[in-house]
Amino acid sequence: MDSITLKNPLDMHLHLREGELLKAVLPYTTKPFSLALVMPNLKKPLIHTSLVESYEKEILSLSKEENFTPLMSLYISSELSKEDLDSAQKKGIKILKLYPKGATTNSSLGVGDVLDSKLLELLGYAETKGFILSIHGESSGFSMDREYEFASVFKELAKSFPNLKIIIEHMSDKRSIKLLEEYKNIYATLTPHHISMTLDDVIGGMLNPHHFCKPVLKTKADKDALLELALSANAKVSFGSDSAPHTIESKLKGAAGIFNAPIILPFLTSLFAKHNKLENLQSFISDNAVRIYNLSFAKDKFVTLEKKDYQVPDFITSSLGDIKVLFGGDTLEYRIKAIS
Ligand code: NCD
Ligand code: ZN
Repeated sequence: MDSITLKNPLDMHLHLREGELLKAVLPYTTKPFSLALVMPNLKKPLIHTSLVESYEKEILSLSKEENFTPLMSLYISSELSKEDLDSAQKKGIKILKLYPKGATTNSSLGVGDVLDSKLLELLGYAETKGFILSIHGESSGFSMDREYEFASVFKELAKSFPNLKIIIEHMSDKRSIKLLEEYKNIYATLTPHHISMTLDDVIGGMLNPHHFCKPVLKTKADKDALLELALSANAKVSFGSDSAPHTIESKLKGAAGIFNAPIILPFLTSLFAKHNKLENLQSFISDNAVRIYNLSFAKDKFVTLEKKDYQVPDFITSSLGDIKVLFGGDTLEYRIKAIS
């Protein structure tokens, strides 16, 4: 196919940061996407509804794109209460994000013990209120086994709260796929990098800190199994870029996160075309998430990609420093032709 038109592309896991970084990265998402689920792990994490609201205002005031919705999320901390959940619901927030304490960027206010009785009670309340629980599912064990070791927590939560939709964010380990099959209320998001790269892209040659992210990239067997989930647009998975911008200076100091927002649609189209699966891209990039997260749009957005070379920029600039773009310098087979 020489061109494909996608309806309402959705990014169900996105880090937009704040201030100058937000200004620099925002248009790469607001132009081609209809909606993005915005993560709450700011330097000052969004642990109360009022903080989520002011962040949403900051995003909307900077966004030049009218036809874009930031879907906001509330960060689960030890301060979370039923009153917070009530006020979040009143303000239309329907996503709760759970970070295990210390698991990743800005997670120091995260949860120490996920199965603690107070938190379980709150999750039970969240279940009755119809919230969706997005989880960064990693233990504090050996890096390559962290997601696998977290499976017992996913199982416990899925069994305890059968009506709570639970999302395994940025699934990275093929051993997690079983959870999607065994529990009707467990879903996942998949990133561009976990379906196309392995640990060798980080440490197999010269060390490449720009490919360092959490959860860490894994084996070829993991990558292949996750790619298969994406290419078949498995009904339990949505696309979530986990685009996580850090300045090059921060990356060289060891920050975890890959910035991929500028390449997403050209990259996914090229990837699906290479595997003769373009017919499944619409489900992967939008339809599955519409169903899972129960989304609707006042006005549809259409993005047409054409089969013409797209030279990926090496980096984008911000007043805080440059940000390296995933696959910068490479040439992709498809590029965005029109957005309407
Ligand atoms: C993310 C970030 O920098 O905010 N980093 C990452 O490596 N993915 C946080 C996260 O999703 O883990
Ligand atoms: Zn993330």
